[in-house]
Amino acid sequence: MLDALAVSGGVLITPMSTPATNPGAFQPLPPLTGRRIRAAVVGAGAIGRGSHFPALARLAEAGETEVVAAVDIDATAVESFCAEAGIPHAYTDLEQMLREQRPDLVTICTPPTLHRAQTVAALRAGAWVWCEKPPVPTLADFDAVEDEEGKDGGPYASIVFQHRFGSGTRHVRRLLAEQAMGRPLVAHCQTTWYRDTAYYAVPWRGRWATEGGGPAMGHGIHQMDLLLDLLGPWSEVKAMAGRLVHDVETEDVSTALVRFANGAMATVVNSVLSPDEVSRIRIDCERATVELTHLYGHSNDNWRITPAPDVSGDEAAAWQNFGPDVPSSHLEQLRELVVSMRAGERPRSSGTDGRTSLELITALYKSAFTDTTVRAGEIGPGDPYYTALHGGAPGWAPVAREEVSA
Ligand SMILES: NC(=O)c1ccc[n+]([C@@H]2O[C@H](COP(=O)([O-])OP(=O)(O)OC[C@H]3O[C@@H](n4cnc5c(N)ncnc54)[C@H](O)[C@@H]3O)[C@@H](O)[C@H]2O)c1
Repeated sequence: MLDALAVSGGVLITPMSTPATNPGAFQPLPPLTGRRIRAAVVGAGAIGRGSHFPALARLAEAGETEVVAAVDIDATAVESFCAEAGIPHAYTDLEQMLREQRPDLVTICTPPTLHRAQTVAALRAGAWVWCEKPPVPTLADFDAVEDEEGKDGGPYASIVFQHRFGSGTRHVRRLLAEQAMGRPLVAHCQTTWYRDTAYYAVPWRGRWATEGGGPAMGHGIHQMDLLLDLLGPWSEVKAMAGRLVHDVETEDVSTALVRFANGAMATVVNSVLSPDEVSRIRIDCERATVELTHLYGHSNDNWRITPAPDVSGDEAAAWQNFGPDVPSSHLEQLRELVVSMRAGERPRSSGTDGRTSLELITALYKSAFTDTTVRAGEIGPGDPYYTALHGGAPGWAPVAREEVSA
């Protein structure tokens, strides 16, 4: 472990730089049949230690995975992480780790502005990627990553959206897909959280370049992603954004009206100004209301299905049967990812399926900053919102240093 650190020579990964990797330098990895998936964790911070490693360790107990390395630019952090977790190799240089360890899976747990370059580097080394939300700063970044994926059987890059997984979501998604409760009509999607002044005193927070966006991107993305996972594609959005409390470049609250391709209409609220914190999704279908109320994760108890008066007791009872409780978690998403890897199939939450919430958030910002209705599919190359979530909008885009000092 210390050898790897010592020879890394302080060559650090530059944010958003083009990886120096020569794709031809990597030989294909051996097939995954009959062996463990060799995983590496990039980013030894809160989510790497607290969620990625524990999920990988659980699957290691089942003979599915082994964690062969961890990477962090902070040598002390990665060394202590490896020592505590029993990970054999610590690195401060991602490229070096990819060359020397040849992992099958790289899980990315670093700040969002690094996700594109690190994902591309791992894909070019032949590894599958499981990258933390928010996926990348812009749709242009997302499309650039997708271009690097394998075309036939992987490797693919998937995004961590753990709220889509677990028994509650699986049950409700199936009821909605089968229209068991009738057509979905009206929905509410609420991320009303509270973040104080001390939270925003950290210099990288509240800035487009470093945090990537405000609560729509950083906090509300989970509930919006889950709403899209349940209701399917959206078709148009009208939004408002505000800076009501904090001294931030981004917004601290946004609201939106979203129409879905199936005709359903939703309201969305993303706030860090709400002392009584809750994450909520409510979907009124023709024959029942489905409601999920939680904060950072859900189990069966967080879901409630209220039948319309004319629904029989037997049918309502069948809807209430969520099966054995499997809470939403990184572990549940990772289980599915490992199955997809072994089958050589595109995993859920990758490609178009992984892009959908980023597109809705981009459209939300465009609608709010231009006071227009934005339709699905309209933000592409040439649109200022394709390459920057603030779209260069006056009053919202970062102000250049010269203008500040003038
Ligand atoms: N899915 C969830 O529910 C959830 C929850 C919290 C955070 N996250 C996401 O996880 C990501 C990381 O968040 P966190 O809270 O763990 O942050 P953190 O600051 O605790 O950890 C980030 C780590 O990345 C390291 N790092 C920075 N630059 C690096 C580089 N170039 N190469 C390697 N390592 C580098 C830092 O030294 C740090 O140890 C963010 O995208 C965040 O939004 C997701």
